[in-house]
Amino acid sequence: DTAAIPHPPHRLPLLGDVVGLSPRRPVQSSLRLVRDLGPISVRRVLGTDIVTVGGADLAAEVDDDRRFAKHVGLGLRPLRLVVGDALFTAEDGEPNWRLAHDILRPAFTREAMRGYHATMLDVARELLASWDAAARAGAEVDVAADMTRLTMETIGRTGFGHRFGSFEHDRPHPFVTAMTRVLRFAQLSVSPTLVSVRRLLAGSARRNRADMDLMNRLVDDVIDARRRGETPDRDDLLGLMLRTAHPGTGRTLDPVNIRRQVITFMVAGHETTSGALSFALYHLTRHPEALARAQAEVDALWGQGDDPVPAFTDIPRLRYVRAVLDEALRLWPTAPGYFRAAREDTVLGGRYRLERGDWVVVMLPLLHRDPAVWPDPERFDPDRFAPGAARRRPAHAYRPFGTGQRACIGRQFALHEAVMALGLVLHRYHPVPDPGYDLRITETLTLKPEGFRLTLTRRVPAE
Ligand code: HEM
Repeated sequence: DTAAIPHPPHRLPLLGDVVGLSPRRPVQSSLRLVRDLGPISVRRVLGTDIVTVGGADLAAEVDDDRRFAKHVGLGLRPLRLVVGDALFTAEDGEPNWRLAHDILRPAFTREAMRGYHATMLDVARELLASWDAAARAGAEVDVAADMTRLTMETIGRTGFGHRFGSFEHDRPHPFVTAMTRVLRFAQLSVSPTLVSVRRLLAGSARRNRADMDLMNRLVDDVIDARRRGETPDRDDLLGLMLRTAHPGTGRTLDPVNIRRQVITFMVAGHETTSGALSFALYHLTRHPEALARAQAEVDALWGQGDDPVPAFTDIPRLRYVRAVLDEALRLWPTAPGYFRAAREDTVLGGRYRLERGDWVVVMLPLLHRDPAVWPDPERFDPDRFAPGAARRRPAHAYRPFGTGQRACIGRQFALHEAVMALGLVLHRYHPVPDPGYDLRITETLTLKPEGFRLTLTRRVPAE
């Protein structure tokens, strides 16, 4: 029963709260609709009530795994058609979730990160080589596109022993192009079905199938190459999935599920990290004092040499660089929300009744701006993540990696990769943005700055 929950003022008969809603930018347009309505609100879109939680107190309740479970809702539904019961899109309690989670857990320990470090560094160096060339030529770089090259290459090589050769081509890899279109198609197909959107979808349904075929073929080739021994057999994600039986039950993942997991990791493993790095660079170009502090930190660690060789243990020492990424993910969490469904009938916030199965969405850009927790919420300020600062905030006020047992399995992976890459970039270049650039954010289920370009000048790090 959503009657007690505030809703936007301009509700239309039948259509509901669609005034101002943009199918291409659902997160940003929803944010505008609900941000003044407080920590909980409801929108009725074509008969569906979408309850949005954006306050830390209520988030603490819905994050509780005893009362709520992950819900594969709205934006995730079409993804589910693509990757079924793989980790990200499995319903809570589906047997393949537990199986895959337990089998893959060892690939995300600290020890596993130590094993990926050298490969992550190799890929970061390829980014630097490509940006050196741009710097020499005085050419601009397309930040989100290059960060996508970096993260795609990193997950491909560390997870599956596959090289996409992302830095060897001017155009994005066909997998990235296909995947971006599949995600956009998925996003549009759950938007309010305005006639124009329907037409657009009908036109692109065939291409969507072709895109999915391309992704499946590529992934099958990667798996077959491993099976035939053409790529080294290792304990990476693929090795674990092909060889490991569950320690408790002895079950293994079936081939269809493995394919779905590989696609899941290719998608989940790079889009969001790439966006986080891009937003971080965007904010740094707007905040020279934060840029200077981050550069002072990497200089102090790596000195003046042109080509530092970061040790595994260097990365957690880059506290300020990490805080920059944390703050970038606060303002624009690149996975902008998650869905939670009530396990039983329950009352939220002491007054909103939910029946078993009713779901809500935690809208992260709103939660991360909850004025009760975040003073001056629009201000970019990495010091919010200074050591010890999190202890002074309620837990659940910051959830860019989701919550509970369904939180992001790749969090450490993403942070290790991103802190190292951002540290190396800041050590080497002074980033100069196009002075006319205003932040625009594109949405393909995830968020990224659109059209954000930099000119790079090589810097001489200070002692
Ligand atoms: C789940 C965010 C990087 C793999 C999630 C969820 C969020 C998230 C919010 C929970 C979604 C939900 O509850 O519906 C992010 C962000 C990243 C990032 C912001 C980077 C900055 C990665 C990386 C990988 C990864 C690098 C893999 C290498 C996954 C998987 C799940 C997941 C497999 C599903 C886990 C499960 O349900 O068991 N991520 N992620 N993510 N993420 Fe990430």
